[in-house]
Amino acid sequence: MSIDANWITSPVDFKDAACTFRKEIPLKGRIKKAILRASAMGIYVPYINGERVGENVLAPGWTNYHKRVQYQTYDVTDILTENNTLEFSVGQGWAVGYIGFKGLHNVFADHTSLIAQLEILYADGEIEKIITDTTWDVYSSEVTFSEIYHGETVNKAASIEYMGKAILSEVNAKLIPQVGEFITEHERIIPTELIHTPKGETVLDFGQNMTGYVEVKTKGNKGDRIVFHHAEVLDKDGNFYNENYRSARNEITYILSGNDDTFKPKFSFQGFRYIKLIEYPFDKVDLNSFCAIVVHSDIKRTGNFRCGNEKINQLYHNIVWGQKSNFLDIPTDCPQRDERVGWTGDAQVFCRTAAINYDVEKFFKKWLGDVRLEQTDEGAVYGVVPACFGNKHTRISAAWGDAACIIPWQLYLAYGNKKILSENFDMMKKWVDYLHSAGPEEFLWLGGLHYGDWLAMDAGEDSFVGATANDLIASAFFAYSTSLLIKAGEVLEKDMEEYKKLYKCIVKRFREYFMENGMPKEELPHTEILTDEYNKPNDTVRKGITQTALVLILHFNLCNDEEKPLLVKMLVNLIEEFGDRMTTGFVGTPYIMHALSENGYTDIAYKLLFQEKNPSWLYSVCHGATTMWEHWNSIKEDGSFWSTGMNSFNHYAYGSVYDWIFNVCAGISPTEENPAYREINLAPHPCKELGFVEASIDSRNGKITSSWRYDGDSVHYEFNIPDGVTAHLTLPSGYTKELKSGKHTFKYPIK
Ligand code: BGC
Repeated sequence: MSIDANWITSPVDFKDAACTFRKEIPLKGRIKKAILRASAMGIYVPYINGERVGENVLAPGWTNYHKRVQYQTYDVTDILTENNTLEFSVGQGWAVGYIGFKGLHNVFADHTSLIAQLEILYADGEIEKIITDTTWDVYSSEVTFSEIYHGETVNKAASIEYMGKAILSEVNAKLIPQVGEFITEHERIIPTELIHTPKGETVLDFGQNMTGYVEVKTKGNKGDRIVFHHAEVLDKDGNFYNENYRSARNEITYILSGNDDTFKPKFSFQGFRYIKLIEYPFDKVDLNSFCAIVVHSDIKRTGNFRCGNEKINQLYHNIVWGQKSNFLDIPTDCPQRDERVGWTGDAQVFCRTAAINYDVEKFFKKWLGDVRLEQTDEGAVYGVVPACFGNKHTRISAAWGDAACIIPWQLYLAYGNKKILSENFDMMKKWVDYLHSAGPEEFLWLGGLHYGDWLAMDAGEDSFVGATANDLIASAFFAYSTSLLIKAGEVLEKDMEEYKKLYKCIVKRFREYFMENGMPKEELPHTEILTDEYNKPNDTVRKGITQTALVLILHFNLCNDEEKPLLVKMLVNLIEEFGDRMTTGFVGTPYIMHALSENGYTDIAYKLLFQEKNPSWLYSVCHGATTMWEHWNSIKEDGSFWSTGMNSFNHYAYGSVYDWIFNVCAGISPTEENPAYREINLAPHPCKELGFVEASIDSRNGKITSSWRYDGDSVHYEFNIPDGVTAHLTLPSGYTKELKSGKHTFKYPIK
């Protein structure tokens, strides 16, 4: 049904306070069905007769509101009574409030607006449509301040004022029905500890870093105030630390009514593990009155993993919580500081793991729609989608823009839905065409302003960008994206000859330019490097031989098969020279384990997995992490922090190692020929330090499990294969077998 309602707004400017739109609706008779549709420029919460409608929060979610905005549909048949008050609380949200670290606000709209339509089908067949228009009343709200980053003030002692009739508002965004998942509330976590810090602060620890907000149920005097700040970590002395939030205040103020009160924010959310009470009206802190509510897109859990090594189990837990924390309508980099935006690079790095842990098809379908809308006519895809910074503040960077090709392909592998490819094929093609003409050379991507091997460790402690030459990374991703485009085209039965030729030329030119005698060149030709505030420290460091360079060459097949043994040996040497550790950043890390395993060095990959010294996955685990950190060493050895400028404790990117754990430790991988796990390769790699592994995925073709455990002198394997799925089993002994549906067990002596 079309929406015939009008966009309305308040006759007075509420600035950063919310307001309420209200309409009385008497029913004309018995009803058969009633449907409410609504959306906002800002965030809205619907109520009928004082009861909240729907279980979703932070609606209508986040898109580029200049171009499109989702509306949500609620069946309210059972809620309506003879006389009804329909109400919407509306706050600023992403569309109107502050967004990003550039201090921008009003990015998409300079005031909040609401659109709603109640469609009533009466028992006698009559249809009535109640729409937002200038007959609606506007009131002030108990939410007297709200910003996504800065928090919310809920004043239940405030008197609610009538402000007049709504006025029409001009909104040009296209209204589309909800495409993605609803954002909903999940776990409820009560504080595990009340801490009095050395500085004398009163801090509540919820025991888990998360995204959501703190609900408080209490009763006090009218006007009493509870004010608190949030933090992800304590500092080395045990004091509250939130400097890494940068300008995001994350301040919650609850003002009591004098009766029983339940408070929680409606238009803001926080990333946190701790809260510090700034004002509290009672002598004794009642821990039971505080409850942290975890909020994320309503994605369904599909993957599970457990092993005999508690540190790896904690790492897996942190990866899953990194995903929960950053899948909030769009894939965000982090949930706490003045950022929380859809960095394309982070999303592509993590999407493979994401699609094992959860069913993310619908979630990414929505966001890929945003990416398509943000792609320029020339085919460029910028660093952040929705483009809330305005494109000039982000870069067209290799490994970030390549999300346009990588994510659709990974979703196809996970879910087997050709529609994902057909919907995104033009975007993939435009991206590859853009790269084809991006630089001074036709078959390489040279120059430009990239994020490089972001946060890699090989260009010095304080550098944001690693040492690997951007030209090499960019040209390698040019080849990789082209290869994925070709695969997608072939699935869709398109003629891909032109792109196959292009791919050959890219690989040939890559090898001439970056390699010599099958090895990468140390010294690379100089290309002009654009600089900005982040790129200055290491402009001079642009190497052709780094762990990341070798990983890309190996994993993206930019070398011949005969060259692989020497290349992987070189990679292993670099890892060993660095004390059995990685130097890789956002670009190399997602693939380093695969590059090793694919080339016979699973033992070295395991060494990296179990490494506890910085940089490593277990370093943060050993330092008490409950989510993934942005830097390998967000907390340094001496307990100090990396920097206040950029130090998130909830950044999912490095959690991408789970796809290797799943593919190699547990051994389950989908095949390209029969995606969605209809046909799988099953090649587990037992390892003593893991003791046992139990992994599963609820795939589109049923639940697959793979487990193994050491049993005396043998390894005992057990696999469960659902009906209709074929598994190609390869055990480390070399034994192979084709498995069909059912339970299969094997026992082999340890070699
Ligand atoms: C974000 C990253 C992002 C990067 C671009 C950061 O501020 O948090 O995760 O990918 O900028 O390099």
